[in-house]
Amino acid sequence: MHLTRLALNDFRSYGELSIELGPGVTTFSGPNGEGKTNLVEAVGYLATLGSHRVATDAPLVRRGADRAVLRAAVSGAQGDSLVEVEVNPGRANRVRLNRSPLPRPRDILGALRTVLFAPEDLALVKGDPGERRRFLDELLVATAPRYAGVRSDYERVLRQRTALLKSAGARGNLRGAARESVTATLDAWVAQLARAGAPLLHGRMRLVTALRPHVAAAYEAVSRGTDATDSRGTDGTDGTDYRGEGEAVPGGASETAMIYRCSVVDSAGTAEPGAGGGDRSAEAPGQAEGVPGLETAMLKALAAARASELDRGVCLVGPHRDELELSIGGLPARGYASHGESWSLALALRLASFALLREGREDPVLILDDVFAELDVGRRERLAALISGGEQVLITAAVPADVPDVLAGARFTVRAGAVRRAD
Ligand SMILES: Nc1ncnc2c1ncn2[C@@H]1O[C@H](COP(=O)(O)OP(=O)(O)OP(=O)(O)O)[C@@H](O)[C@H]1O
Ligand SMILES: [Mg+2]
Repeated sequence: MHLTRLALNDFRSYGELSIELGPGVTTFSGPNGEGKTNLVEAVGYLATLGSHRVATDAPLVRRGADRAVLRAAVSGAQGDSLVEVEVNPGRANRVRLNRSPLPRPRDILGALRTVLFAPEDLALVKGDPGERRRFLDELLVATAPRYAGVRSDYERVLRQRTALLKSAGARGNLRGAARESVTATLDAWVAQLARAGAPLLHGRMRLVTALRPHVAAAYEAVSRGTDATDSRGTDGTDGTDYRGEGEAVPGGASETAMIYRCSVVDSAGTAEPGAGGGDRSAEAPGQAEGVPGLETAMLKALAAARASELDRGVCLVGPHRDELELSIGGLPARGYASHGESWSLALALRLASFALLREGREDPVLILDDVFAELDVGRRERLAALISGGEQVLITAAVPADVPDVLAGARFTVRAGAVRRAD
């Protein structure tokens, strides 16, 4: 799919803006702070209802205004559509598809699909487990929008149960009737937490299994320059295959591994990252049992953790405690990988997302915000070769020369709030 038009009102630094876009590569360049990232952030927001830079909506609305409106005309396999989002900080957003209001904001998800690369992606490798959980959940929603509801249900139940645990903990060692009443309430929440958590766990596990070969291949392609072979057939339905002749040797020094470390089924024992030899496409423990099995496992794990949860006033078991463990050459990426290796792995996660999202479907829009400035020349060229065939690629760069020639396309300059065609 691709955007044919982007229009903004009171979004970030833009009062009013409307630009025409086409398929292929489009580059936005201009001095620092002129509004390049703001543009692509808007495209990302239309696709995900979130920003890659901030966790709250207030900074997205132009200073002095009380709401922002974002519009994209999208051309895709299903025909043309118009996606509109009104951002109301502190209140629910309003969304329209083809001018009809939708009941819930999340009903718009899927109308526009994007994969966004940004300097912030380094945190996927170097940051806290929460960064990687968010990566998984956002990708899950991009692959199947119904997970937006699954995720928000889980977060709501978790918030309520955590509040209950906290207040029970604050009341010290409860005895007798008081303890029984708290226990009964907690039991009710345990059931709800397991019911809401199991589908999220299952979705994440399946996602990790599907993503794993793409990450390994993309890491190899980005870091060592394996030929980027676009294996799409003439029917255009095939996915991306980065594997050339020189595929990584299992367990080799640059082999990446990715394991979903689940607080619920951890005791089942998972293969050590980078151990090699084993079935690297193996499912996560517990995945085979499906959603009902995971719900039962979660109930069991929650029952076992009950005493410590009451002591500590936090919810110790569930998808919110899990970790996506990444490793390179058998060592955890976080804390061990070099800066360049971390970058390659972060890029590989995004490239793998792209490969997965286009499998059997139309391409999502690729967005690269200021990424080339962060990379050495080799990685720039390899990344460029891997993405240049995307249906639509939107790139921002302060220095146009940082963008490899293979990505020549439409050019815009961004200066003083004006976005102009440069060719
Ligand atoms: N809510 C807002 N209201 C008004 N201006 C804003 C708002 N949010 C951000 N800005 C302004 O937008 C500008 C930043 O724009 P942006 O991040 O798109 O720059 P950029 O062109 O990507 O720069 P760089 O090359 O440094 O990445 C800043 O000058 C900032 O003050
Ligand atoms: Mg920027």
